[in-house]
Amino acid sequence: MNRHSTRHSAPSHLAASLTAYLEDLQESGLDGIPAELVTAPGSDTLLQRTSSADQGTEDAMSDHLNAAEKHETLEQISKNLGACQRCKLGATRKNLVFGVGNPGARLVFVGEGPGADEDAQGEPFVGDAGKMLNRIIAAMELKREDVYICNVVKCRPPQNRPPEADEVSTCSPFLLRQLQSIRPEVVVALGSSAAQALLQTKVPISKLRGKFHDFHGIPLMPTYHPSYLLRTGGNSDSFWSVWDDMTQVLQLLKLPVPNKSRNK
Ligand code: URA
Repeated sequence: MNRHSTRHSAPSHLAASLTAYLEDLQESGLDGIPAELVTAPGSDTLLQRTSSADQGTEDAMSDHLNAAEKHETLEQISKNLGACQRCKLGATRKNLVFGVGNPGARLVFVGEGPGADEDAQGEPFVGDAGKMLNRIIAAMELKREDVYICNVVKCRPPQNRPPEADEVSTCSPFLLRQLQSIRPEVVVALGSSAAQALLQTKVPISKLRGKFHDFHGIPLMPTYHPSYLLRTGGNSDSFWSVWDDMTQVLQLLKLPVPNKSRNK
């Protein structure tokens, strides 16, 4: 098939998927396509090539999709967030808490939002809840540096109240972009606020946990929040429910499941 016949017979599903992808990017707060995403080998940019009469539209579209999907790094997303004031949490936070860990992680933990310690240090899960999360990660025989940890909202809600709907809807597109950049095999949503925000439901965490849900094509396991485990204790039913959930996560990742048994 020569380039001209390709150009004139570009399949409509490809055009539709490009349009949907670009709309997704726009909705997720991407203000423009960074220059490095549109630079093709040689001197032309992919955008120029798309409108060039001599270039196969289908080739350009697939190149563009691949380039955009491949190349948005966490650094670029963080830069795009900048000193974010897109919602009212920007006015009261000390530090924006972007996320921490392995940019190629197979497993991502998503919490609700930074607390006082996280706000002070600019890193998620560094306070008491963070110590409990570290215990969970260690029990899975993983290291904090192996996984990626972030939150639904990147700035601390005053008095640690749950993030409000407008704050979640403003901030979660950036989380989506982080996940699209990392491409984890599993996401764990920590607590009802994170699980309900990500799955856009009001179903209680006790009903959501224990099974995988679909989050933009990624299996998502909701589980209890580490702060809840701090209140219920390290040998409570909820603690062992979290362990059951993490067992399923390890199995999905085809990682060994350490043998843990409950103290009577
Ligand atoms: N709780 C959360 O949900 N996230 C944090 O980063 C810390 C505590």
